[in-house]
Amino acid sequence: MAVRDRIAAGLAHGEIDTRDGESVRRGTVALVGAGPGDPELITVRGRRLLAAATVVVVDRLAPGLLLDELAPDVEVVDASKIPYGPQATQDEINRILVDRARAGAFVVRLKGGDPFVFGRGGEELQACAEAGVPVTVVPGVTSAIAAPAAAGIPVTHRGVVHEFVVVSGHVAPDDPASLVDWAGLGRMRGTVCVLMGLRNLPAIAAALISNGRDPGTPAAVVQDGATDRQRVVRARLDRIAGAATEAGVRAPGVVVIGEVVDVLPAIGPVTSW
Ligand SMILES: C[S@@+](CC[C@H](N)C(=O)[O-])C[C@H]1O[C@@H](n2cnc3c(N)ncnc32)[C@H](O)[C@@H]1O
Repeated sequence: MAVRDRIAAGLAHGEIDTRDGESVRRGTVALVGAGPGDPELITVRGRRLLAAATVVVVDRLAPGLLLDELAPDVEVVDASKIPYGPQATQDEINRILVDRARAGAFVVRLKGGDPFVFGRGGEELQACAEAGVPVTVVPGVTSAIAAPAAAGIPVTHRGVVHEFVVVSGHVAPDDPASLVDWAGLGRMRGTVCVLMGLRNLPAIAAALISNGRDPGTPAAVVQDGATDRQRVVRARLDRIAGAATEAGVRAPGVVVIGEVVDVLPAIGPVTSW
């Protein structure tokens, strides 16, 4: 039976059978990590639940190609929060998830990377739980690791680095609202992966250096990692912000700082400063 027919049959009985017999109930939500951009980097489980969805609420960073596989009668809601695109506040997104589930849909909330890595998946789970809507979480491949990996940068490497930390650079280091321990990061030897850090990259590099990190530490920005638009800029920590600006790097990008940046040969196009 075609996926679409199985969905229709399932809806009639309050249950939807996915390909391997796992059942998903109508009136529930699945928070699914779609991975960093390559449609093949969603998990098998995520793809299976997506095929059973009757409503898909999608983010800007979730791979658009995955939507091409949906049956035409699946409702797709664009929850994009980009400033120059359609706006929807987090409360509105939460309301959509809850309302559609209460109306009997099997809702897949498709999110870029992993739902719980700077993805607001926790807020959405809380909203559903408070409304009595059951939620499943399907972890995703986070860009924090996958974008560097796709560029040939391992976040750890035996004999070189045995620790890595993932931080948000959305709030500038000198902003009292920052919850990141930039002083501590400046003192550590390990790999620092910064998400949402391009705008504040000059201040981030300066904060790390002023707190003890060697200005000559290798660094890279991986833009659009794991997509066919991937590009990489490499430079010393004290030059990475200028290099990224000069190269015209745009979001989304992961900044990687640490010895691992120079450990392996690069994969894909690289600009070095
Ligand atoms: C709101 S966070 C969401 C992170 C996502 N939940 C994850 O686990 O990858 C968005 C940030 O993730 C990073 N990002 C997401 N996809 C990326 C990609 N394909 N290449 C590089 N960075 C990416 C960028 O730093 C971007 O600003």
